[in-house]
Amino acid sequence: MPTMAIIGGQWGDEGKGKIVDLMAEKAKVVARFSGGSNAGHTVIHKGQEFGLHLIPSGIFYPQVTCVIGNGVVIDPALLLKEIDLLNQRGVSTANLVISDRAHLVMPYHILLDGLEEEARGGSAIGTTRKGIGPVFADKVARLGIRAGDLLENDAFYSRLQTVLPHKNKILTLIYGVPPLSTEDICSQYLAYGERLAPYIRDTESIVQEALARGEWVLLEGAQGTMLDPEFGTYPYVTSGTPTVAGACTGLGISPTQITSILGIYKVYTTRVGSGPLPTELCDETGDQIRELAHEFGTTTGRPRRCGWFDGVVGRYSARVNGFTTVALTRLDILDSLPKIKVCIGYEVEGKFLQYPPANAATLEKCKPIYEDMAGWQKPTSHLRHFQDLPAEAQAYVNRLEKIISSPIALISVGPSREQVIVIKPLI
Ligand code: GDP
Ligand code: IMO
Ligand code: MG
Repeated sequence: MPTMAIIGGQWGDEGKGKIVDLMAEKAKVVARFSGGSNAGHTVIHKGQEFGLHLIPSGIFYPQVTCVIGNGVVIDPALLLKEIDLLNQRGVSTANLVISDRAHLVMPYHILLDGLEEEARGGSAIGTTRKGIGPVFADKVARLGIRAGDLLENDAFYSRLQTVLPHKNKILTLIYGVPPLSTEDICSQYLAYGERLAPYIRDTESIVQEALARGEWVLLEGAQGTMLDPEFGTYPYVTSGTPTVAGACTGLGISPTQITSILGIYKVYTTRVGSGPLPTELCDETGDQIRELAHEFGTTTGRPRRCGWFDGVVGRYSARVNGFTTVALTRLDILDSLPKIKVCIGYEVEGKFLQYPPANAATLEKCKPIYEDMAGWQKPTSHLRHFQDLPAEAQAYVNRLEKIISSPIALISVGPSREQVIVIKPLI
């Protein structure tokens, strides 16, 4: 059985949650491998909308073990809130497991995320202020505290005693804010630990044993390729690894164990936060897409910046991830538009680019080169077969497939599980 990674091909919010939920019906394990509560994955279950931040989108299926892998950073307060909310709404979290190697978001990470953003002034990244940058920085600086540490009170206390004085120096001497108390954090976090203890364990073995049994394992990505610190619009990126490479380090699997890589793209572009966005529409069409699609962040409620489909980004993220198939989402959002544009390249300083430049300042200067396409101006949400789509919608999908150079296997035409057109079987 395949091990499928599900990866965002743009700047996040491509509809990964919906597609993971759809695919999870056949899965035994759904494992999140990166990001933290900066993610917001929407799933419609029994007619109700759920916004998941840390808990994998397979949670609605009782046969699925949901793994929060070592590559995820966990804010225990937010995780407990998410567990409680799901339980109150009748969704069991009995099959949830949390890696003992996953790093914890600590109160100083959240504080520092906000303080660093304010210090950046006009060049702020527009982070979600969930402490993501600071916690990933501490992980590589070897200053992190991990979920497994919550299981041993003395070890947790002594780890905090090592780390906190360093953090307090930064808080007080650089930012001039009051220091945090070891005792307060310790009692708060050990209480979280008591509640989370039944979920915390090694998770590599769960994933590896499922793979050895030949079970269907889904690897749920968070964020999108253009937010990756290596390949995204640096420094306007997140700090985890949204690309498929993150699935290996974030779960403890080999690249050879991943049998398919499904790239998720919206049929247009959105971005929350700052940074270059070459196809952004700062006009009525952009506003129209935002209103039609309710493009407001799942995690922060911020309006998402909207624009035409960026084929340069599409081509690039397919290349760096090696997408074996693609799912397009939100085709229905374009239903009412008379004309649609697709960016096929950039022009900068007299040069034509097929792939994005590394430098954010150069990317800011890139002018998108568009192809005009006819809109279809007919509803598509009720359609379930590719040949039933209006000819203009088929032409649009075919054009995107050619630009991305990966076969389109699914088209999503609405937020619900059943609103999907399957073009090619994924298994
Ligand atoms: P994720 O972060 O990639 O999981 O995406 P989000 O959940 O943040 O944002 C995607 C939004 O699009 C959610 O509100 C989904 O319910 C919605 N959605 C997903 N697929 C479709 C679709 O095909 N059509 C429409 N209209 N909405 C969709
Ligand atoms: P999902 O999984 C969209 C963006 C933030 C900001 C930048 C850095 O729902 O697709 P961070 O808090 O991570 O340090 O912020 O990354 N960002 C996302 N944008 N979808 C997401 O996740 C995002 N997670 C982070 O808006 O621009
Ligand atoms: Mg999202």
